[in-house]
Amino acid sequence: MDAVARLRRWPGLLAGGALVAGGTALLGPGPARRTGVPRPLSCVAVALGGAIVANELTGRPVPFLRWSFLRLLVGIRHFARTGQIGDGREEAFARYLVAHARPGDVDDAIRTADEFCRTGRILAAVGDEKGPILERAVAAAHPHRILELGTYCGYSALRMTRATPSDAHLYSVEFNAANADIARRVIAHAGVADRVTVVVGSLGDGGGTLQRLRDDHGFSPGSLDLVFLDHDKDRYLADLELVLESGWLHPGSVVVADNVLVPGAPAYRAYMAEHEGGLWHTTEHPAHVEYQSLVKDLVLESEYRGG
Ligand SMILES: C[S@@+](CC[C@H](N)C(=O)[O-])C[C@H]1O[C@@H](n2cnc3c(N)ncnc32)[C@H](O)[C@@H]1O
Repeated sequence: MDAVARLRRWPGLLAGGALVAGGTALLGPGPARRTGVPRPLSCVAVALGGAIVANELTGRPVPFLRWSFLRLLVGIRHFARTGQIGDGREEAFARYLVAHARPGDVDDAIRTADEFCRTGRILAAVGDEKGPILERAVAAAHPHRILELGTYCGYSALRMTRATPSDAHLYSVEFNAANADIARRVIAHAGVADRVTVVVGSLGDGGGTLQRLRDDHGFSPGSLDLVFLDHDKDRYLADLELVLESGWLHPGSVVVADNVLVPGAPAYRAYMAEHEGGLWHTTEHPAHVEYQSLVKDLVLESEYRGG
């Protein structure tokens, strides 16, 4: 572990240490009676604090007890609103990747990103379990034109680029301009800037982004081979409908959707179930929420059969 990684463990060590100290103090007969905090609660605080400290010290921590994960939970509402967790981890990731990944090497960029998420700070990226599911779906579709909704730091863009031939192009739409800038730096460092265009905007902005995709990037009826939905989970269905209304899909186009179980896109899942065997054929891929193995998630891979 390098010095920077060690420094990153301090917030977790301090938080865990504070829980142990506070919980232990409360376990004394005097304070417990005065504060009214039940003994079992103090024991839980001591155990949790101890686990967090042990976790941060081992170097291969259990994700749920990592400070980075707990901080992500705290920042989840900020993330839903802005697209960033709020503690600067996205910018830190870009700097880490540029400093540690071999330039021009997509494989090494992905490896470095996974290392950052496993040992440093977890990102809200598709991750190393669902990432290969995405890559397999992309490779099987043999796409030339891909649309991603939700670029974030460019991690899934790297994985999709790795799974496609060099003449395929990914257009990735991201509503947070700072994220778009981070993703562009990451993608350029990995040597695939000529294969990915990051577009700042959102399909639901009243038509501006749809228009730019048409006018500036050549989106036309039947031209889109694959869509990856990984943005606002409440917008999956609405934005897919915008894509369908634009006529960009063709029979055989594939739509992959992440986080269908957690945070969840129930309306989207119900829509695909309703049209199963008709307009769409869907395969559900069971997986887990990124960078841990306890909470289950689902990736949906849906083939369009309409005309
Ligand atoms: C879960 S992250 C995407 C992760 C990325 N696909 C990866 O695996 O590396 C979601 C991203 O979607 C962006 N976002 C949220 N709502 C959006 C919208 N309506 N249009 C475009 N981007 C959106 C957020 O700013 C955030 O960067």
